[in-house]
Amino acid sequence: MTFREDGYAAVDWAADYLERVADLPVLAQVEPGELSARLPDRPPERGEPFANILRDLDDVLLPALTNWQHPRFFAYFAVTSSEPGILAELIAATLNQVAIVWRASPASTELELRVADWVRQLLGLPEGWHGHIEDTASTSTLAALIAARHVTERNVVVCSEHAHSSVDKAARMLGMELRKVPADEALRMRVGDDLRFDDVAAVVPTIGTTSFASVDPVRELAERAHADGAWVHVDAAYAGPSWICEEERRSQDGVELADSLVVNPHKWLLVPMDCSLLWTSRPDDFRRAFSLVPEYLRTPEDAYALSEYGPALGRRFRSLKLWAVLRCYGRDGLQRILREHIRLADLFAEWVDADPDWELVAPQRFSLVVFRRNGSDEENEAILERVNASGELFISHTRLNGRYVLRLAIGNARTTEDDVRRAWEALKRASR
Ligand SMILES: Cc1ncc(COP(=O)(O)O)c(C=O)c1O
Repeated sequence: MTFREDGYAAVDWAADYLERVADLPVLAQVEPGELSARLPDRPPERGEPFANILRDLDDVLLPALTNWQHPRFFAYFAVTSSEPGILAELIAATLNQVAIVWRASPASTELELRVADWVRQLLGLPEGWHGHIEDTASTSTLAALIAARHVTERNVVVCSEHAHSSVDKAARMLGMELRKVPADEALRMRVGDDLRFDDVAAVVPTIGTTSFASVDPVRELAERAHADGAWVHVDAAYAGPSWICEEERRSQDGVELADSLVVNPHKWLLVPMDCSLLWTSRPDDFRRAFSLVPEYLRTPEDAYALSEYGPALGRRFRSLKLWAVLRCYGRDGLQRILREHIRLADLFAEWVDADPDWELVAPQRFSLVVFRRNGSDEENEAILERVNASGELFISHTRLNGRYVLRLAIGNARTTEDDVRRAWEALKRASR
């Protein structure tokens, strides 16, 4: 077999998978270690045809896949790897650009800057911000905290009790002190009169918290943080893409004051994992924190190297998939999909709200519904385990004031109203 024939077979496999994914169980129906037991202990001595890989995808790996592309994947934050993004990943691997400095990949460097700026425009963010791509929001936030510490020469990070664990992890890795501020009844970081930032390196408000999609008061926090000389890094990893819809920009209030902002196209902008956009209004400070150019990387041209703006030297061609998705969907195509997700979440929330046996436990925001069945934590946990084990849908949970609550997140482009209705019916059945 040749690369071309194997390639056709691989694309056929991918197309077939996407056609049948709705008929597969959403959550992998295997026990821990079950796949390991089927994988040879020893590496292969001799090469074998690529066709064997495709065969084993079906026979060995498929049962151990949790199908993130399934239309009834409602756990964590549901995502979509869209067809243009999938094909662009194939091309990116083919080209294997390693953008360490501009001349190592002028295309990757310049396309990344351009598409980061396209998304900035699509989301209605301030002109002049510098954007680049990191692998994940965890890395973007780590990078922002490094820049903040470098500039402020302080060692404290402040976020809400509901901030994502990536903030805790970044602070821990950097040896910075983390101060968690309690949230108010609306699950927003509480801004009391005594909240001071005069020894703080970075304040990290979240727009769209992981558990509840709540929105911290960014403007108030940013004004106070700046008055006290602290950096403001906004985490809109999940909710940021919603700003492509103008009517969703009410959650953007104060973002223009941010020193840095992270938004994940791999969460809610149809780009395959991984692609995290990190913008800053202070690119020179980022460069001062990260630039380190050894002799062997010096070049005569005075050109841009994105490796001077973040932790990684070798950077892969992530902008290609973002470029493909933006061009193949356009603003209106993306708006249509996100608006439908928000409509479906609102609809599900209405069903929950109208049923006396169930309750909404957090204000309805974006495409996430947080709810519970009236009853004990154990009953709610049993409902979750039952529906997930059925393979029909996959949801996840969190805790609010110690109580076990269920989360249904809509984010897959294939999800229809029928899928959401099936999920609701399955939840009600599981609760009886
Ligand atoms: C608000 C928020 N920030 C950060 C992250 C971390 O994202 P990543 O997996 O890209 O590191 C998540 C993940 O769900 C999130 O919800």
